[in-house]
Amino acid sequence: MKISIVIAQEEHYKYAQEICDTIESSALLRGTGIAKRTPDYIKKKIHNRDAVIALDKNGVFAGFCYIESWQHGKFVAHSGLIVHPSFRNHGLAKKIKTFVFNYSLKKYPGAKVFGITTGLAVMKINSDLGYKPVPFSELTNDPSFWKGCQTCTNYEILKSKDNKMCLCTGMLYDPTEKPKIPPKHPFNVRIWNRLKEIKAALFLGNKEK
Ligand SMILES: CC(C)(COP(=O)(O)OP(=O)(O)OC[C@H]1O[C@@H](n2cnc3c(N)ncnc32)[C@H](O)[C@@H]1OP(=O)(O)O)[C@@H](O)C(=O)NCCC(=O)NCCS
Repeated sequence: MKISIVIAQEEHYKYAQEICDTIESSALLRGTGIAKRTPDYIKKKIHNRDAVIALDKNGVFAGFCYIESWQHGKFVAHSGLIVHPSFRNHGLAKKIKTFVFNYSLKKYPGAKVFGITTGLAVMKINSDLGYKPVPFSELTNDPSFWKGCQTCTNYEILKSKDNKMCLCTGMLYDPTEKPKIPPKHPFNVRIWNRLKEIKAALFLGNKEK
């Protein structure tokens, strides 16, 4: 599978609608919450050189991710990670995240890199990059970050917990912490899955896991 991953530019505006559609249909299929994006927002990210796109040799859309920065560059987050269903399970998400991670360390030197996710794949990738699970209090306190969760189906839970807790796990990479050769998945997947079930049972009355 020959896929190229590049910093997205204006020539990639044409993929904005497909990116949004793929994010939305994947979220619907998973039945989980997700922050909704518009093609204009994706184009703005591309214009600011804050997005990464993966394409196959024929220019077919394979994957995407973008960077957000908070508190004047003190924190950055990677959002909207999506791999088109036809390109999944070949390590592409890991390559995209690694690319965007290294790019953001250069573009936003000194920034702490964080993410919130319910997905095991993202937990694994982030762990391998050196992120650690942390409470939400360690993440940005910028209200506009948490506002981005408004279109998530679990937003009422986040709101009721005053942005301190939700179904997502918070993960943080602090560039000042050494060493940086993390073990592969230094967390116990079974324990993490169990915790996720407990959270879903508590917050959703076991409607969703
Ligand atoms: C999640 C997603 C990005 C993974 O893309 P991918 O290219 O198939 O992932 P990779 O092949 O790079 O897999 C990375 C790791 O996650 C694991 N993984 C992939 N999909 C997984 C899944 N659905 N559940 C659990 N683990 C998964 C892989 O086995 C691999 O683990 P390993 O390092 O032990 O081999 C893709 O399925 C997707 O776009 N889903 C919809 C959008 C989404 O969920 N985005 C994340 C929002 S938080």
